[in-house]
Amino acid sequence: MKKRTRINVLLAEQPIGETVVVKGWVKSFRNNQFISLNDGSCFDSLQIVVDRDDVEEKILKQITPGAALGVKGKLIESRGKGQSVEIDAEDVIVYGPANPETYPLQPKKHSKEFLREIAHLRFRTNTFGAIFRIRHAISYAIHQFFNEQKFYYLHTPIITASDAEGAGEMFRVTTLDLDNTPKTEDGKIDFKKDFFERETHLTVSGQLEAELGALALGQVYTFGPTFRAENSNTSRHLAEFWMVEPEVAFADLEENMDLAEKMLKYIITYTLVNCSQDLQFLNDQLEKEESQKPKNERSAMSLLDRLQFCVDYDFARITYTEAIDILKKSKPNKKKKFNYIIEEWGADLQSEHERYLVEKHFKKPVILYDYPKNIKAFYMKVNEDGKTVRAMDILFPGIGEIIGGSQREENIDILLDRMKEMNIPEEELYWYLDIRKYGSCPHSGYGLGFERMVQFVTGMGNIRDVIPFPRTPGNAAF
Ligand code: 4AD
Ligand code: MG
Repeated sequence: MKKRTRINVLLAEQPIGETVVVKGWVKSFRNNQFISLNDGSCFDSLQIVVDRDDVEEKILKQITPGAALGVKGKLIESRGKGQSVEIDAEDVIVYGPANPETYPLQPKKHSKEFLREIAHLRFRTNTFGAIFRIRHAISYAIHQFFNEQKFYYLHTPIITASDAEGAGEMFRVTTLDLDNTPKTEDGKIDFKKDFFERETHLTVSGQLEAELGALALGQVYTFGPTFRAENSNTSRHLAEFWMVEPEVAFADLEENMDLAEKMLKYIITYTLVNCSQDLQFLNDQLEKEESQKPKNERSAMSLLDRLQFCVDYDFARITYTEAIDILKKSKPNKKKKFNYIIEEWGADLQSEHERYLVEKHFKKPVILYDYPKNIKAFYMKVNEDGKTVRAMDILFPGIGEIIGGSQREENIDILLDRMKEMNIPEEELYWYLDIRKYGSCPHSGYGLGFERMVQFVTGMGNIRDVIPFPRTPGNAAF
């Protein structure tokens, strides 16, 4: 049984009367006659009608949820309701049965927590099929967007000897024997004996390398895995996540914000056009979940409305200073409802504050810029006031920070001072400093948390549900 046709193609082209071959996994088998077969190509399953006289009893018994089948038969107009076409089976092969006594996926709704325990099987469910098709589409849209904007895709290293964010939350990379590490004279581990002859880690960001690319190729972007060993068990943090980082020569902070807003709208529009069926399913499922919540906890907009809204309206743009004023005067701050009360300028914003600004005050995405320099990374350009830096964060409803970026400090003396202030070792970054010595220029960039984007588009509350194999503290088994 060769030359299978994918179900999405059959449903789109509907070659009625032709004999076709489909292969996929059984969703359900009703009345010993109707198989619902899904091959992952699209949300919809195809109905297969089997005539008991044509198919051996032994095979019929193996048609249970999860089994892998090949079916050959004629595509006909459906005689029943609920689908336009179906296959009249002439021949059925069972490639792999799935023991119904032990197959973990029952034809009922499973909790996402349960499915996370069997993440190797959750791809088979309607929800995760939809999520991972959408994840693919978002990734594709990102490459398409930057290609159309004439950016070059730059592959930056995963193993690095520098801490790009200066936050020290890195995973170590070593081939040293941990039971018997070589020591220097003063008793410290001798990394000169390690594979790279220095201390190395998994990267937290490809930005620093992307800056070098941008100052030659003009505009580049990275899109790769990044790693953070922060011990935060939240619904928005992963230890391994993907980041999209464009970097543009001669661009200032405003152009940086414009690019980011345009990219986010492009991605959302792309998924609305190309993932309508998967999105509709997630939308309806979320509506059902919402309707079970108390009225005051329900979200004001459906998933699809929320996505459309982001495309249709300009994002709010305010400075950190304006945001602090709004937050200080806000009800939850006055009534001490925030876990962290905003008392003065300079406070780092927590996700409760970001979400207040987005969900309660502006009711749309917000770009916050010009943050105090003390709460931001060393490479951000210092403003003339000497207190703030040209940083920008984009805050999204239900997510909080989805993008973090800035105009970069291109003046080598100011940058060196900032590095001293923040104890960033100069020797490790000589290669980064060199572009400030030779043909330096204003430049800007940002990082989009790819999984947070997928979370926003799919409406998933937990980031672990939008990456195939989540890595979080204590979780790396498969
Ligand atoms: O704000 P961050 O730390 O910025 C940077 O790393 C810069 N080097 C980016 C740049 O300017 N090129 O991270 C960028 C984004 C965040 O806004 C967030 O969406 C996401 O990455 N992010 C995480 N996503 C999942 N899990 C984590 N632990 C994350 N940490 C950051
Ligand atoms: Mg950030």
